Amino acid sequence: MLLINASKSDLKNEVFPSQIRERIDEPTNFPPSDTSPAPERVVGSRHVAQAKSCTQQRTARAEHRTDEPTTFLEPGIIGVLVSGGDCAGLNALVRAIVLHAVKSYNWRVIGIKRGFPGIWSRPMQTMDLTPEVCNNLWQTSGGIFLGSNKNASLSKAAGDGKALADLQEAFVAGYNALGLDALIVVGGDGSFAQLAEISDYGSPASQPERRPNIIAIPKTIDNDVPYTDLAIGHETALDVIVEAIDKLQTTAESHDRVIVVEVMGKDAGHIALKSGIAAGADAILIPEIPYDIEALAAHIKAILQNWKKYAIVVVAESVKTPQGEAKVRTIGADEQTRYYGVGEHIAFCLKSRLPAEVRSVTLGHVQRGGGPRAGDRLLAAKLGVAAVDFIRRGEFGRVLCTVNGEIIGVALGDVVGKTKIVEKESELVRAAVALGIYIGA
Ligand code: F6P
Repeated sequence: MLLINASKSDLKNEVFPSQIRERIDEPTNFPPSDTSPAPERVVGSRHVAQAKSCTQQRTARAEHRTDEPTTFLEPGIIGVLVSGGDCAGLNALVRAIVLHAVKSYNWRVIGIKRGFPGIWSRPMQTMDLTPEVCNNLWQTSGGIFLGSNKNASLSKAAGDGKALADLQEAFVAGYNALGLDALIVVGGDGSFAQLAEISDYGSPASQPERRPNIIAIPKTIDNDVPYTDLAIGHETALDVIVEAIDKLQTTAESHDRVIVVEVMGKDAGHIALKSGIAAGADAILIPEIPYDIEALAAHIKAILQNWKKYAIVVVAESVKTPQGEAKVRTIGADEQTRYYGVGEHIAFCLKSRLPAEVRSVTLGHVQRGGGPRAGDRLLAAKLGVAAVDFIRRGEFGRVLCTVNGEIIGVALGDVVGKTKIVEKESELVRAAVALGIYIGA
């Protein structure tokens, strides 16, 4: 088994999903063999189950759920909280959780508003979620009705005078005050890191008796959460980007222009690579693969001279400039940084090297907006139902990951601190090269 620790700083060292994939089958902190003890089951109160390996879970499913517990956690109250950047499919996910929890098990569902501060601040911000509230429009709508919070970093809160211990205490106190039996946290890598810290799942010296019962669900248009093939929001964002590039292709052709399109993708190029191939881009730059500006220019020049008079270059926001700098800008009063502007910079670099007008377009938050396409609605339905069933079986501290269409629970501590990045040897990279798309070297 290959152990990885794909933290952001490791990205330069090219730790790729094939390595992560090996890790899926044998997470280190799961009991190693079938002889491990069966999960402890507790009815109606807080509880920490011993995790089984993913392989064990899969085998058990194949064997007609022979490990189904004889007692279940019910009835109770579950909370739902969304943290981090929004995306399409979140309302559909909350609706699926509510419908299954209420209609199948007669549970009550409480929505926590605006992310972690909704439960650690006083007064807490909550709303009752019923099937009447979560009507069918939740299936079709974009954004997240509960609200989310992108700036709820623990370090920021600590900077406001609250120590981590205070936040942990407020979080657990909020959980208890609401009478929750479990809390579903929907988020991406940053939110899971906060969750692990605040709920004490991540720390080696964790105290199980203090931990709330947590289930985590990955959502991010970046699709960079490890172990899962898909996070909610990714597929819809791809559709939105492809539609936008389709439009840019026609106007680029009309005016014989080269258009550089900057897309999101914080430290991972999944969005750029997939949308670029799907939209027929001529070059795709992603942070995982170094590029050479002269080689890029020569590639586009050859296209303009020998094939067509226009070209599209897709650039992930986290690609570095030819000089090796990350292009960022600061936002908000607390001056957080966000990637922005590398597309414009590359367009500027290409201008002097090409015999055509070069323009740039940054798609920005358009990529996260709008209602979910069918793929994300289906993923939301599966994950929402699975989350409720994990809770009912008393299996906590898991991130629900989709692997070849099947949902498995990976230990939260295993997911935290890692990023799933594009594998250089992947089929998609090979396809891009085979289609004559410049992708670096
Ligand atoms: O992580 C998701 C993401 O959409 C990234 O692709 C992007 O860099 C970032 O969030 C933008 O964050 P914000 O909404 O705070 O500008």
